[in-house]
Amino acid sequence: MRVVDLDRDMSDVIPTGMSPDSEFLFDRMTEATLHATCAGAGRLVLDVASGVGQDSVALARDGATVIGAEPSARMTEMAKMFSAEHVAEGESGPEWVSGWADALPFAADAFDASFCKGAMDHFDDPESAIAEMARVTKRDGRVVLAIANFDSLACRVTRAIDAIREDWLGWPPLRGRRGYDTPSDHFTRYELALMKEQAARSLEIETVLGVSIGWGMPGWATLACRLPRPIAFGLLRGLDALARRFPTLADVVVIVGRPRPSEHALTRAA
Ligand SMILES: C[S@@+](CC[C@H](N)C(=O)[O-])C[C@H]1O[C@@H](n2cnc3c(N)ncnc32)[C@H](O)[C@@H]1O
Repeated sequence: MRVVDLDRDMSDVIPTGMSPDSEFLFDRMTEATLHATCAGAGRLVLDVASGVGQDSVALARDGATVIGAEPSARMTEMAKMFSAEHVAEGESGPEWVSGWADALPFAADAFDASFCKGAMDHFDDPESAIAEMARVTKRDGRVVLAIANFDSLACRVTRAIDAIREDWLGWPPLRGRRGYDTPSDHFTRYELALMKEQAARSLEIETVLGVSIGWGMPGWATLACRLPRPIAFGLLRGLDALARRFPTLADVVVIVGRPRPSEHALTRAA
């Protein structure tokens, strides 16, 4: 049996009340990821660890043929409900398939694009998952990985503030789980160098895109809530532009690559 929590919800990751900084981060991460798949009518796209299915549904509604692969029956049930609510009559919804990321139940070269958003750090074997995504994606297709950066500027600043408060001043911790500590259901603590190293084994990396800066920093959500909305979003967009230039500081990194020829050669030889 695999030691993977498939009954999780996302309450310790996604704040229940959406402050502008969270709203911006999640929307921008989704937009950057889905855009990078170049999905559209006539394209076959794989959503790996599709969760509750909102991204698969969005791409299907835009005309792509989408398969969401997910090992959790609970998540897949939620995805089916989400799809039933959001896909209108006459529109085609995604197909849901049960599958682990490191053993995808598809033939080589089957998809025009594959993507995995916000899930790589939940995988017990992420490198095999990337190799599998490369295998099932056409040589000229795209593999897109969106991963939270636990060495973002926000993580570094928050860690430094906590060290001053707790180690120097002896004050008690400000909060329960710290944003820079990996949650209990994560296997890997990703930072940019590790993401690139793992991706480069199976992909020819084309783009490394940083998304958002500052998420989770003490006081940042409160400030973003208090500022007039246009000013808050102007600030968030400015920081996002900085994240694009310096992905090492970003809250989330989106890596886009093409499958390495060796992945395909190996698969065909097998
Ligand atoms: C945080 S959710 C992300 C879901 C979705 N991609 C999104 O952006 O909302 C992580 C998902 O990874 C799935 N998961 C965990 N381990 C997995 C594995 N080894 N292979 C495939 N999916 C896995 C979980 O069941 C869960 O649905």
